Order: sequence, then C-alpha cells, then structure tokens
Amino acid sequence: MSMIINESLRLYAPVYSIVRETKKKVRIGKVKLPANMQFYIPIHALPHDPQLWGEDTHIFKPERFAEGVAKATNNNIASFLAFSLGPRSCVDCNFATTEVKVALSMILQRYRITLSPVYAHALVHLLTIHPAHGLQIILHPI
Ligand code: HEM
Repeated sequence: MSMIINESLRLYAPVYSIVRETKKKVRIGKVKLPANMQFYIPIHALPHDPQLWGEDTHIFKPERFAEGVAKATNNNIASFLAFSLGPRSCVDCNFATTEVKVALSMILQRYRITLSPVYAHALVHLLTIHPAHGLQIILHPI
C-alpha cells in the first residue's frame, strides 16, 4: 500500500508547486539566483522528466518504490517532493499516509474497486490537483 500511495503522490502530487525566497545570492545546480528572489519549485513537473525517473516515468508503476524512496529516486530524493523536503516540509505526511491506509483497508475489506468506463483522465489545478471530471469508480461487494 505504501508503494501505491508513493506512486500516486509521485504522478499526481496534490500540491502543484511550492514557493521559496532566496535570502542571499545562491546557486542551485546550474542555476544562479540573486538575493530576495521568489521562485517556484514545480513539484508537478518532476514526474514528466525521464532523466529523473527513467523512460517509463509516465507509467503508474508502484514497484519502483519496492525498496523505498531513496532507491526509487536513485538517492536524489529531491525528485520526489509531494510532501516537500527540509524544515518546511509537510508536518503531517505520516498522518496523511496513515489515514489513507486506514481508509483503504476498511474499504478493501468490503469491496473490490474498478474504474468506471465513463472516467476520463484529466487533471485540474484548483488550489490542489484534482481529477477534472471527478473520479468515477465502481464498488463490487465481496
Ligand atoms: C496527501 C496529503 C498531503 C500532502 C500531499 C501535503 C503536502 C504538503 C507540502 C508539499 C507542504 C510544503 C509546503 C511548502 O513548502 O510551501 C506541506 C506543508 C504542510 N502541511 Fe501538508 N500535505 C498533506 C497533508 C497534510 C495534513 C493532513 C496536514 C495536517 C493535518 C498537513 C499540514 C501541513 C503543514 C502545517 C504544513 C506547513 C509546514 C511548514 O511550513 O512548516 N499536511 N504539506
């Protein structure tokens, strides 16, 4: 379940981008930034970069997290920023993922889930990322 949650967060990070501001002149990789400049970190762009995730980056492949985030990111954990990183990262990432696991465990004990044929895959940015036309699923009692 952790692998599936991580892969969902990788491809569909709810937080689209985050903003930071430089206090002084700084160099980040090849980019030089002046002091007092605000810049966006495009969390949502990261899974579109095959240099970070490989040629299969657009494919939903939970097993890439089978040996943890460090292995999945090739020790470049800045390529997985769904909860951000560092001192301003999400204070409740553990709570959020535990909550998903509890909810899914309760649902999966009673139902098998399939995607409805009417579902159209499209994303929309409304403060956070959402399915543009809803997420129609079919619950099959077990
Ligand atoms: C899947 C669910 C969640 C995602 C993807 C998420 C993502 C994030 C991200 C990316 C940031 C960094 C924002 C930034 O650096 O500008 C953040 C910060 C934060 N998150 Fe979450 N979050 C989630 C759930 C939660 C929950 C459930 C809570 C609290 C109940 C929470 C509380 C916070 C707080 C307080 C911060 C600000 C931390 C700070 O600035 O020091 N988050 N979150």
